[in-house]
Formats: sequence, structure tokens, C-alpha cells
Amino acid sequence: MTALKLLILFPLITIKIDASVVINRYDDECVLDPALVAEISSYENVTKHIMDQIRNNYGKTMYQEYTHFIDKFGARPSGSWILENSINHMINLTRQHGLNDVTTEELEVPHWVRIFEYGLMLQPRAKKIVILGFGSSVSTPRGGILAEAIVVKSFAELEALDRTKVQGKIVVFNEPYVSYGETVIYRTLGASKAARKGAVATLVRSITPFSIYAPHTGAQYYENNVTKIPTAAITLEDADLLQRLQNEGEKIVLQIQMYYTEDTKKSRNTLVDLKGRVNPEKLVIVSGHIDSWDVGEGAMDDGGGMMISWFVPVVLNTLNLKPRRTVRAILWTAEEPGLIGAQAYLKQHKNELDKINFIMESDEGTFQPLGLDVAGSKKTRCIVQEVLKQFAPINKMENSGAPGSDIVLFIKQNVPGASLLNRNERYYWFHHSEGDTMVVQNMTNVVECAAFWAAFSYVIADLSVDLPRH
Ligand SMILES: *[C@@H]1O[C@H](CO)[C@@H](O)[C@H](O)[C@H]1NC(C)=O
Ligand SMILES: *[C@@H]1O[C@H](CO)[C@@H](O)[C@H](O)[C@H]1NC(C)=O
Ligand SMILES: *[C@@H]1O[C@H](CO)[C@@H](O)[C@H](O)[C@H]1NC(C)=O
Ligand SMILES: *[C@@H]1O[C@H](CO)[C@@H](O)[C@H](O)[C@H]1NC(C)=O
Ligand SMILES: [Zn+2]
Repeated sequence: MTALKLLILFPLITIKIDASVVINRYDDECVLDPALVAEISSYENVTKHIMDQIRNNYGKTMYQEYTHFIDKFGARPSGSWILENSINHMINLTRQHGLNDVTTEELEVPHWVRIFEYGLMLQPRAKKIVILGFGSSVSTPRGGILAEAIVVKSFAELEALDRTKVQGKIVVFNEPYVSYGETVIYRTLGASKAARKGAVATLVRSITPFSIYAPHTGAQYYENNVTKIPTAAITLEDADLLQRLQNEGEKIVLQIQMYYTEDTKKSRNTLVDLKGRVNPEKLVIVSGHIDSWDVGEGAMDDGGGMMISWFVPVVLNTLNLKPRRTVRAILWTAEEPGLIGAQAYLKQHKNELDKINFIMESDEGTFQPLGLDVAGSKKTRCIVQEVLKQFAPINKMENSGAPGSDIVLFIKQNVPGASLLNRNERYYWFHHSEGDTMVVQNMTNVVECAAFWAAFSYVIADLSVDLPRH
């Protein structure tokens, strides 16, 4: 795609980059009122107290409850009864911890169910091809699809092909992994692009840098007016194999069968409040999503982030630390099919956005915590940076411009916010695959994330000043 096209399609990204350059330049020159600096440093004993209590005491119980939650419910796909049961469990757990201010907000969510999938290479030799359909994929016609495959490395390569080369075939995308954010477009839009060229199905190299023969699922979207064709992930191993066979001049014939059902169900966002002592109407939101994909157990995505966020109001209440503003944990529902829970919350509360002082999210792992990816005005970022000083070495501050997943919707509405930075370089190895289980987690790290998450949000919720917007 040309730079000009990018500019037209994604003008916001251009603005974002410009803004981040400016903000970065001024970050070194944060000049805060000395009284505010003194006030922030006066929290050092409290933050140490919160973190020590979680590290040495309450964190272990939280981790046991987290493990029990994952063991008991496992995968919690949008629209499933097991997701609803897991929400009930968290409501009960909140009350058991002595916090009764827990409410839910109902909404409609997609309920896409994987029934049956099967993939086989017939030519040049018989080999099983493990496939894992993408959320919202249509089924194959009864009896499946038997077709020749054509492998491409990019959308550009697909576009350059003559339509007759693609018509009636299964398009295999073997795109190189650059980063999740850049490469995921082959999962989300691959089917639509290939359908416009006349393809009958697509198989997409899993969006991960590493594989031991596991496919990775995720959401995909059909563009308007496009023939909906079945679309599934394949492993890196098979994507490379199919590429080599094509390069070696072999004709590749595949057979796939996929069957899904789709309807909608009711689900709920869960709100856990520790009401503010002075300004209960003002909110500091900490959040993660409670739903997961139907493969693996959603331990990492996003069981860990959901749990440490739920724990913030709960543990502050236990420690008898009531900040000035309300601390609200939100357990988003139906993040995976496309931020459905967060969209509903935004719609329902759009006239109260000015009451959100800060919004936080953990949805990229709860490995060793490093700091925050912060979006907000220069002054807000300066205040956050000053608060982070007392958490060294958990004091890294980044400025991607769009931190988080669900909370990006709020960031776009000018609400300041942050997502948890952690040592998650292996996150996408397991993400949306059967590999997302408790084995990936480390208690010490999760507890450390929880300690930082609770202590940091306490300070923001208790400061005498609101975080200023642009
Ligand atoms: C921290 O110190 C402040 C005064 O500097 C005091 O008011 C507060 O009670 C202390 N908090 C804890 C948890 O020790
Ligand atoms: C939650 O508590 C209610 C009332 O005590 C109980 O009926 C229900 O079975 C519990 N649900 C879960 C999922 O723990
Ligand atoms: C889709 O097709 C309809 C009717 O064929 C047309 O009116 C509409 O503009 C199309 N929309 C897009 C996004 O192409
Ligand atoms: C968990 O992480 C801690 C701290 O990084 C490390 O010392 C420990 O060895 C890890 N435990 C396991 C089982 O990997
Ligand atoms: Zn997630």
C-alpha cells in the first residue's frame, strides 16, 4: 500500500505518531507543581504497604482463586453458559471477600460455536492438516470443499494474480510474522480479500512467531457485499510446507470440512466498585476481559488480567484503604468477538465519560511487570511518570498512542488511560491456542502484577488532583 493510501485510510495513525513525538520531546521536561510532587511522594509508605501485603499475604490466595477459576471453568467463549457461570462465580467471590458493591449490565453478544473441523492434503501426498476456524467463519458446504490451493505471502501478491489463477481455489496466506498488530490483518481480512478474487476458502498462517504445531484462532470480519467463505488458521509448519511444495512446482489439492453454528445470547459486563470516600462519582477503572476463545483455557488471555483487575477494589477494601475516588473493576464480556462488552458500556455511559479520571487494562499478559503504556495529555503523563518513580524498577513508561484493547474505545474519546507493560515476549506463542493454560503462568509474576496494579491505581484514585485531559 502506498503512503498516500495509508494516509487516507488511517489519518488517525498519522496524527497519533505526530502527537507522540511531541509528547516524548516534552516528557523529559515535566515540570510539576512542587506541592504535587511532594504529595505524590507522600504515598510511598502506602504503596509499599499495599505491595507488601499482596506479596506476602493476600496475593497467594488471589492466585489460588485464579487457578481454581481457570480449572473449574476452562474456556469461556462469548455467548456460552459456562461464561455466564464464570461471571456468577466472580460475583459470588466478590461478596465472599466482603465487597457487596457488584453489579452487572446486560447486553447481546455473538455466540459462534465450533462443531466440527477437518483438513487434509490429498496431493501431492496424503497428510492431515490441522485447521482451526476463525471466529464468525461460515461453514463449508455439506461434504466440505475439495480444491486446489494457491499460496501467497501477502495481499499485494494476491492482488497481482490474475483472477483465473485464484477462482475456485483455496487461498493459503503464508504471511511473515512482523508483529501481532501488523500481521493480524491477514486473519481479520484475509477471507474478504480472497473472496473478492473468487477464492472458495482461505487458510491463514497462524499469527504467532513460534509453533509446536498448534493453530491460533481469533476474530475475523467479512467486508460488506463479499461472498462469505470459510476461513481457518493453519500451523506455521503446514504453511511453510505448502509454500515449499508450491515453490517446488507441485500441484496442491486440499480437502476441508468446517461446521459452525451462530446466534446471539445475553451476557453481562461485571462492575465491582469500591466507592470513593470523597468523590464517589469520579472513577478510576481497572479492567480485563472474562471471556476467552474456545481453545485453551483463557488462563493468559485474559484470565490473569481479569483477575488482577478484579482484585484491586477487593484487596483495597480488605486493607481498609478507601481512596478519594471510586475504584471500579470491570470484567468485560465478549472482548474476543470484537470488544462487544466495552462498546456496550461506552454506549450506556457515554454521557458520563468526564467522570472517568483514568482507565486501565491488562490484556497482554501478566508476566513480570515492567510499567505502563500511557495515553493522555502531557500533564497527565507527567503525573503518571512521577507516580511510577516510587515503583522502580516497575517504572517504564511507553506511549504507543493506543494502549490496551477494550479501553482503546475510551482512549479515542479522550479519556486518559494505560495498559500494563510486562515481559510478554512469549505472549503470542500461546495466544488463542490450546497452549493458553495455567502452565504459562508464574505465581510470583502474577502476584507482582497484582501488587503493582492495586498500589498504582490506589494513588491515582486518591490524589488531590484529577488527571487533566487535553
Ligand atoms: C503514610 O504516611 C502518611 C503521612 O506521611 C500518613 O498520614 C499515613 O497514615 C501513612 N500510611 C501508612 C499506610 O502508613
Ligand atoms: C453463587 O451463589 C449463589 C447464591 O449463594 C448460588 O446459588 C450459586 O450456585 C453460586 N454460583 C456459582 C457459579 O458459584
Ligand atoms: C453493496 O451492494 C449494494 C447493492 O448491490 C449497494 O447498494 C451498496 O452500495 C454496496 N455496498 C458496498 C459497501 O459496497
Ligand atoms: C517464576 O518467576 C520467578 C521470578 O521471575 C522466578 O524466580 C521463578 O524461577 C519462576 N518460577 C518458575 C516455576 O518458572
Ligand atoms: Zn485478550
